Amino acid sequence: MKIQRFDHEEALAATLGERLLDRVARAPRLVLGLPAGRTPLALYRALRERTARDRVDWSRVRTFNLDEFAGLGGRDAGSYRAVMDAELFSHLPIDPANIGMLDGLAPDLAAECRRYEAAIAAAGGIDIQILGIGANGHIGFNEPAGELHAHTHVATLQPATRDANAVLFGGDPDRVPARALSMGMATILGAREIVMIATGEEKAECVAGMINGLITTRLPASFLQVHPRVTVMLDQGAYGAYSA
Ligand code: GLP
Repeated sequence: MKIQRFDHEEALAATLGERLLDRVARAPRLVLGLPAGRTPLALYRALRERTARDRVDWSRVRTFNLDEFAGLGGRDAGSYRAVMDAELFSHLPIDPANIGMLDGLAPDLAAECRRYEAAIAAAGGIDIQILGIGANGHIGFNEPAGELHAHTHVATLQPATRDANAVLFGGDPDRVPARALSMGMATILGAREIVMIATGEEKAECVAGMINGLITTRLPASFLQVHPRVTVMLDQGAYGAYSA
């Protein structure tokens, strides 16, 4: 793993934003895996601003988001689709047909998961997967457990994860859906390159375990150690315990 530390999250976001837009310029058919959550918001701001400034062509870029809440559609304010539209997609000159998202309102969620795996494969796989990390070490909605799913699946959220996502639901964890759809570990590790971003002290402990600890299903992000091309981009807070 390549570890990179930044003084603050804006510097991290600016650097990663430049790198991604450079890749888009060199490979217009880039396939990007994207996370929702708080962490990538500065990155999405950087991508919006630089796309407008440099007139970046996103018309052939394809994206696949990591996860989505079960029972919510793009019109629901708490959905990751709504967040992604507001924070990124509606500001980019991207073809809506090239935006891949799991549909939390699909009548058959298992079939929706199979559709998503097939869509990623049909796109030729993910070139660069951007990841956040939950304070409990989850990636996507692959929660710490005795066993993990390889492929896109329906996940049951742990109380800590519902708490962490409550901000999207008026601060009320009980309004956070109990289930979600998520890429699995093999889906994520199948990306040709992975960039993990983590900011804030509350991430420091799991980041340290992810980088230095044993590989364990109790810390799903630790599986990134087996991938040959992972860059971990941290602010001071998230780097803290790693350096200690
Ligand atoms: C959430 C999402 C992940 C996200 C992670 C970190 O629950 N399922 O996709 O990367 O947890 O979220 P945040 O960036 O808000 O800390």
